[in-house]
Amino acid sequence: MLFGKKDILVGLDIGSRAVKVAEISDTKNGRRLKRFGMADIPPGAITDGAISDPDTVAQIIRQLFKTANVKETNVAVSIGGYSVIVKKINVQTMPEAQLQETIHFEAEQYIPFDISDVNLDFQILGEAENNAGQMNVFLVAAKKEMVNDYVNLVTLAGLNPCVVDVEAFALQNIYEANYDIQGENVALIDIGASKTSLNILKDNSSVFMRDVALGCIQINQKIMSLLDCTYDQAELIKFGEENKKLPADERRQIISAVVTDWCTEIRRALDFFYTNYPDDQIKRIILSGGGANIAEFRKLLASEASAPVETLNPFNGFNVDEKSFEPEYIRQIGPQAAIAMGLALRRVDDK
Ligand SMILES: Nc1ncnc2c1ncn2[C@@H]1O[C@H](COP(=O)(O)OP(=O)(O)OP(=O)(O)O)[C@@H](O)[C@H]1O
Ligand SMILES: [Mg+2]
Repeated sequence: MLFGKKDILVGLDIGSRAVKVAEISDTKNGRRLKRFGMADIPPGAITDGAISDPDTVAQIIRQLFKTANVKETNVAVSIGGYSVIVKKINVQTMPEAQLQETIHFEAEQYIPFDISDVNLDFQILGEAENNAGQMNVFLVAAKKEMVNDYVNLVTLAGLNPCVVDVEAFALQNIYEANYDIQGENVALIDIGASKTSLNILKDNSSVFMRDVALGCIQINQKIMSLLDCTYDQAELIKFGEENKKLPADERRQIISAVVTDWCTEIRRALDFFYTNYPDDQIKRIILSGGGANIAEFRKLLASEASAPVETLNPFNGFNVDEKSFEPEYIRQIGPQAAIAMGLALRRVDDK
């Protein structure tokens, strides 16, 4: 039964500030958004991608599945951040089975962790253009501890983790599902609360992928240290609540300083691309994650990056029933839903 119900996986994006769940169904009229939900994670429960309070997070996930009315328990989750490394490497041409045997040895020089501490995966891309007898291989390495933590968390929530994906791949999948643009060079950038994922695509494949420790939480931290307030108070002020101790122009300055940092890091990634592919042009920058909602950031990036900046709408290519989902809500949460939607595209038999 191809694409039968039993193949369906629910996309579960466990962010450090918000967990999102998405379920897609295949109908004869195309793909449909079946369920979606989002819930807050209290500060401190997940820090730098590490799950410090699994019981609390598992309880939030259980509750979220109830409120979003998701019955399916087979899920695809993702990991990201500094514990995941994705790199295009060159190795001597050999059959896949042989590379499977030697990948640890090949990978060792590219991985800044003890090789026995990581799970490795790879995909052979084809012959290397300029090196005879060599092939391009896409290498993915993730710290075992991190993968185990996420698998255990999902199990603790009463669910069945079928696929553990990499955030940047999930983002690429949802981009490709929504935008029918073949071979255009684009930069996909997800700015979450505590991490930013950068993925530059050339000719439909990724040529640069990196996660950096930048995110919206930096704004909260600056407000908290200035006003000596709690995280939640800082969150309200960040969203524009008046505060006697922090005039609006000072708030703007804080936001401006943080988003300037983000733009510097993004420019670094774009420069890497232009150094390696001087004849190519990045046609668009596509933003997702909570950070994509910050207008000042979009404006600054557009002026610095010499490419148009857009916000990803992960629901673009899907039927979304207005009776089940308020259009304004769908528009508002779109950027933050991108990774969960990318995960919901995965199927049980996927690697
Ligand atoms: N309009 C907005 N202005 C400022 N910040 C915003 C806005 N909308 C969302 N955010 C911020 O976005 C963050 C949440 O984004 P997102 O859901 O992408 O993060 P996450 O997936 O939980 O984090 P991460 O992926 O880094 O672990 C929060 O810090 C929130 O305050
Ligand atoms: Mg996220």
